[in-house]
Amino acid sequence: MSRYFKYKTADALLADAKAMGLDIRLSDDLSFLAAPITVSGRTVGNRLAIHPMEGCDGEPDGSPGELTLRRYRRFGDGGAKLIWGEAAAVVPEGRANTRQLVCDARRADGLARLLDQCRRSHREAWGDDSDLLVGLQLTHSGRYSVPRPWLAQHDPALDPRTVIDRETGRTADADTPLLSDDDLDRLQDRYVEAAEVAFRVGFDFIDLKQCHRYLLCELLSAHSRPGKYGGSFENRTRFIREVVGKIRNRLPDLMVATRMNVYDGIPWKMGDDHLGVPETVSYPLRSSWGTDPNDHTRPDLTEPIQLIGLLRELGVAMINVSMGNPYGSPHIIRPFEYPPPDGYETPEHPLIGVDRHFRATEEIQRAFPDLPIVGSGYSWLQAFIFHAAAANVRDGRVAIVGVGRASLSHPDFARNVLEGRPLDRRRICRTFSYCTALMRSKHNDLGQFPTGCPPFDKVVYDPIWKLAQETAPPRG
Ligand SMILES: Cc1cc2nc3c(=O)[nH]c(=O)nc-3n(C[C@H](O)[C@H](O)[C@H](O)COP(=O)(O)O)c2cc1C
Repeated sequence: MSRYFKYKTADALLADAKAMGLDIRLSDDLSFLAAPITVSGRTVGNRLAIHPMEGCDGEPDGSPGELTLRRYRRFGDGGAKLIWGEAAAVVPEGRANTRQLVCDARRADGLARLLDQCRRSHREAWGDDSDLLVGLQLTHSGRYSVPRPWLAQHDPALDPRTVIDRETGRTADADTPLLSDDDLDRLQDRYVEAAEVAFRVGFDFIDLKQCHRYLLCELLSAHSRPGKYGGSFENRTRFIREVVGKIRNRLPDLMVATRMNVYDGIPWKMGDDHLGVPETVSYPLRSSWGTDPNDHTRPDLTEPIQLIGLLRELGVAMINVSMGNPYGSPHIIRPFEYPPPDGYETPEHPLIGVDRHFRATEEIQRAFPDLPIVGSGYSWLQAFIFHAAAANVRDGRVAIVGVGRASLSHPDFARNVLEGRPLDRRRICRTFSYCTALMRSKHNDLGQFPTGCPPFDKVVYDPIWKLAQETAPPRG
C-alpha cells in the first residue's frame, strides 16, 4: 500500500536518504532516549514527548469530553515524560473548531480532571510522576477561528482562502478589517488569565502557541500590518514578548514554553494530477516568517533565532519547533504517505520533509545548546521513528523528540522503546491521514467529528469514521 515508505531495513532507508542528499541518521542504540533532562530546574524522566494532538472532542462549552479524558489517560500511561497538552483557546471565539478546548476560569474544573487522570494513569503504570511534565497549549486561532475568522494581517495568498461570510462564501480582501491594536492589547490580558488558570489547575507549563499560522504565528510575519504590532521585527514580536513578560511577572513559578514555526513557507494548492503545487505569490514575500523573502522553499532562521534569544532572556524555558500550515502546506508540517480526501498528494518525497524538520531543529538547537528544544515531524518514519530520534539526541541535534500522529495509534510507544522492544507492528502510524480527515469533518450536529486513529484505535474510532463517511455530503 505504501508508495514512498518501503523500507524493511535501516540500510535501505539510509541509502535512499543518501541518494536524495538528506541528513537522516539512525541509531540502533536507543538508550539516548532514556536519559533524563532538566528543564527549568525540573527533571524530565526521558527524551520522549507527546506533541499537542487535539481530538476535537471537547464538550460544546470547551470543557474536555469523555474522549479527551481517554486520550490523556492513554498518554499518561504511555511512558513519555513530556506531555505537551493540546490547543486550548484563551477565548471561546478563538477556537479553531467547535469542540476545541477553552482555557478559562469556567473550564478550570474540566482541565483539572484531565490533568488528574493523566497523572494518575502515569503513576499507576510507572510508579512515579515526579519526573513527568504536563503542559497546556494556549491558542487563539486567528484567521482559522470559528464561527468567524480574526485577521492579524492581510495575506495575499491566504485572504482569498479565508471565508468571512459563510452564507455567501465571501472571502477576505484588503477591506476586511484586522484585529485592532486595542483588540490585541486586550487579548494579551486573556492570555495572562488563561496562564493563571492553567497554573492554578496544576499544569507544569504553558505553551504560547506561535505555529501553524494561527494568530500569534501570523503576527510574526505581519510586515504589512500598520501600527505597533506590524512592520519591524520589534513590532511583529511585540505581542509575544509583552505577553511572556506579563505572565512571568504575574506567575514567576509557572514554566513558560512556546511551540513556534521556524519556517512558514507559502500556501500550496492542488495541481494537475492532484499533486501539490505552490500558490502563485509575488516577491519579496511579506507574510512568511522564517522564510527567504525571495525563495519560498528556503527556510531563513535568522529572525526565529533572534526571537528565541529574546524569549530565552525573558525566561522561556523550552521551545517546540514546528513549521508550515496544516491547511495550506500539510506536507511541510506533517510529511505524509496519503493525503486526506480533500488534500493534495505530497509534491516531494516525504523523507525530504522529515529532513527539513531535522535540519531546522538542529540549527535552532545548535544556536541554543542549553535550551531544551523539542523536535517534530517524525511520524512518517514509522518503525524507524525512534532510531532517528536516538541518533538526533545522541548528536545534539535536538534535546527531546515529540511524537504526533503516531501517538494516536500507539500512545504507549515509550514503553516499547524503554523496554528495548520493537513497536507493535499492528499499531504503527502509516500516515494515511485518517486523523486529519476526521478533523476536517464538520457535518454532524456539533459541527465537528472527534478525531483519533480509525485503523489502529479501531474500537473507538472505526465507528466514528464509518459514520462520518456514511453521512458525508457529496464533495463538490
Ligand atoms: C489530529 C491532529 C491534531 C493536532 N493537534 C495539534 C495541536 O493541538 N497543536 C499543535 O501545535 N499541533 C497539532 N497537530 C500537529 C502535531 O502536533 C504535529 O506537529 C504533526 O502531526 C507532525 O508531527 P508527526 O509527524 O509526529 O505527526 C495536530 C496534528 C493532527 C494530525
